[in-house]
Amino acid sequence: MPLGISEKAKNITPSATFAMDAKAKAMQAAGESVIGFAAGEPDFDTPVTIRDAMKDALDRGMTRYSAVAGTLELRGAIVEKLKRDNGLTYDVSQIIVSNGAKHSLYNTFFTLLDDGDEVIIPTPCWVSYPEMVKMTGGVPVFVPACEKDNFIPAPTAIAAAITPKTKAFVLTSPNNPNGCIWPESTLKAIAELAVKHGFYVISDEIYESLINSAHKHVSIASLGDEIKARTIVINGVSKTYAMTGFRIGYAAGPKDVIQAMIDAQSQATSAPNTPAQHAAAVALSMPQDCVESMRLEFEKRRDVIVKGINAIAGLSCRKPEGAFYVMMNVSALMGKRCAGVPLDDCAAFADALLTQGKVATVPGNAFMAEGFCRLSYATSMENILEGLRRIEAFVKALA
Ligand SMILES: Cc1ncc(COP(=O)(O)O)c(C=O)c1O
Repeated sequence: MPLGISEKAKNITPSATFAMDAKAKAMQAAGESVIGFAAGEPDFDTPVTIRDAMKDALDRGMTRYSAVAGTLELRGAIVEKLKRDNGLTYDVSQIIVSNGAKHSLYNTFFTLLDDGDEVIIPTPCWVSYPEMVKMTGGVPVFVPACEKDNFIPAPTAIAAAITPKTKAFVLTSPNNPNGCIWPESTLKAIAELAVKHGFYVISDEIYESLINSAHKHVSIASLGDEIKARTIVINGVSKTYAMTGFRIGYAAGPKDVIQAMIDAQSQATSAPNTPAQHAAAVALSMPQDCVESMRLEFEKRRDVIVKGINAIAGLSCRKPEGAFYVMMNVSALMGKRCAGVPLDDCAAFADALLTQGKVATVPGNAFMAEGFCRLSYATSMENILEGLRRIEAFVKALA
């Protein structure tokens, strides 16, 4: 047998968001001034209560393996959070804690999919869903939605993608990359389809608390017992509490699915970091005013970046309703040239914007959204203003 990596591994497309962020950071390390709009993580410090809880966990000897599904303390805090914020009642046996929501999602796909099972993914979509589906033997089935429809496909388009092999539907609201929030009427339509055709809904609610004032988050699982029995709710502490490095995410769902995820996790990784689980339990249970102040700051930044992009001739964007991303429409500039290089697609545009304009974004093709670049406004107001100034100068200089 020749040496070499598997076909499965060869098939994986590495995360474009991490790649673009790494490229920008390498340029910064080399002394260049680069404004980074690529990274998908809050720039705020982790609140002090949470940092203290982490230190306290170490001092109190929480330094050993925990139960594979997570500590009872954290699973209990998650049960309370789901009741308090989402009106969802779960038993602790229906919760599993993993190494970030990304790991929770991977466990979910691994547990639900047999080879050839189909997973419906509306696009634009977060970079990791199609790759994870492929890594676990499934087949992604894409349902595109366009900007004029707020990036939300019509229920009829979703229904048309259902086949006897459909095993799950991925719902991301608030959404990465486009910041849209799915209306309750569409959630109801999806719930009806899931119940009628017998598939699961994987509801990624990681941006739930980063929602603009005029909107409210509704978990699809709260729409009735039948849909709750078919939904795996995914959430975590990374985005809400600026805890990306703690690597704590969780899934809540039907007991048999969660138990299968626990069994898989028991062999693959065991439980996540024990002191970080304590810090996450404190985060979920403490007064939530720090979440509100981060949310309000994101809202201010959103208003500035949206106004700024729409004021630049040739660029436009719709106003995101949640998360901290905006999809900048660059399609009107396709065919222009930058330093003699034709900008024929959004990847070429993002590349030139980084190397010539010194602004890092993620090209929309990474999210199956040609003609767009995604900007994360999880960065300071000062960076946003300077980034907008550079983007404007870059666009004006295109031939
Ligand atoms: C839509 C979505 N889901 C899940 C995650 C994973 O979050 P984490 O693994 O940090 O909990 C991210 C992170 O970028 C995301 O954007």
